[in-house]
Amino acid sequence: MTNLLDIKDLTVDYKTDDGISHVLNRVSLSIDKGETLGLVGETGAGKTTTALSIMRLLPRKTGFVKNGEIVFEDQDLLKLTEAEMRLIRGEKISMIFQDPMTSLNPVIKVGSQIRESLEIHRTDMSGAEMDKRVDEILEMVGIPASRKNEYPHQFSGGMKQRVVIAMALTCEPELLIADEPTTALDVTIQAQVLYLMNNLKKKLGTSMILITHDLGIVSQMCEKVAVMYAGTILEYGTAEDLFSGTEHHPYTVGLFGSIPDLKVSSKRLSPIDGLMPDPMNLPKGCVFHPRCPKCFEKCKTAEPAVSVVKGEHTIKCHLFEKGEKHE
Ligand SMILES: Nc1ncnc2c1ncn2[C@@H]1O[C@H](COP(=O)(O)OP(=O)(O)O)[C@@H](O)[C@H]1O
Ligand SMILES: [Mg+2]
Repeated sequence: MTNLLDIKDLTVDYKTDDGISHVLNRVSLSIDKGETLGLVGETGAGKTTTALSIMRLLPRKTGFVKNGEIVFEDQDLLKLTEAEMRLIRGEKISMIFQDPMTSLNPVIKVGSQIRESLEIHRTDMSGAEMDKRVDEILEMVGIPASRKNEYPHQFSGGMKQRVVIAMALTCEPELLIADEPTTALDVTIQAQVLYLMNNLKKKLGTSMILITHDLGIVSQMCEKVAVMYAGTILEYGTAEDLFSGTEHHPYTVGLFGSIPDLKVSSKRLSPIDGLMPDPMNLPKGCVFHPRCPKCFEKCKTAEPAVSVVKGEHTIKCHLFEKGEKHE
């Protein structure tokens, strides 16, 4: 069986006034149908850039895919024309941005904004069918259809984000990319939105990429997890591999160490010492070596290979390469 999405060796640079930022460095990921992948890592790791690359929404003049492929349903999205990509965006792949106002137009009624995506993609539907679908999708995200003639500012933050989710789901995409969809929301609304997304996934069989730096959310929502750092996937595996296994990348250990008990919500994240490197000036060898408590000589000069721990569980660290001694 082929995967719904296969990203291979994706390498992305941003051109800035100060130089070239190497923001994604040979990122490979895959997602099966109906599966949710959690993409985790600290701010600046390259999570949003990965999402924007899939959507082909990198800033036109400054963001460049240098290498790699993004194969979705057997076609490389990077090879499509803009017109072909527009048909995929919204209909087959849609994205929920962190800030709902990125996606909502303040001067258009909420119902009309949802209807717009049907008008573009579902030319087979009659006007009456579209109206009915707008009502259904609003109800599905817990908003009374009677409010469809209101404007975004008449909605609370949580409701706006649910409208954005409704918009993203209108055309029942095969893949939903949610970029920190709940970060801006308070805890109660956050739980509601996540519950909703999980229900929709079950109901529609949508595959999801869920971007977050909250491992608690990942443990509740995701079958697969990729841990990203400085534009590199350092560890990848099933949620079980990541949450109950014993073999982990030292960076994952650091991240997980910050949430010793997922059930105790009062536990604060304790950040790992040091800072993520500047992508304009990445360290030699392993990108994590300057912060790694297990760093040894080789880590400073040689880039580690991706080692298979077991099944799909991989770790990119010299400690896991054959022939290296564990302490
Ligand atoms: N448009 C841009 N131009 C230049 N650098 C950018 C741009 N967008 C993001 N970056 C840089 O790329 C790196 C990765 O950013 P991003 O993909 O937003 O990470 P994340 O979503 O994991 O926080 C960061 O160093 C960030 O400063
Ligand atoms: Mg981001």
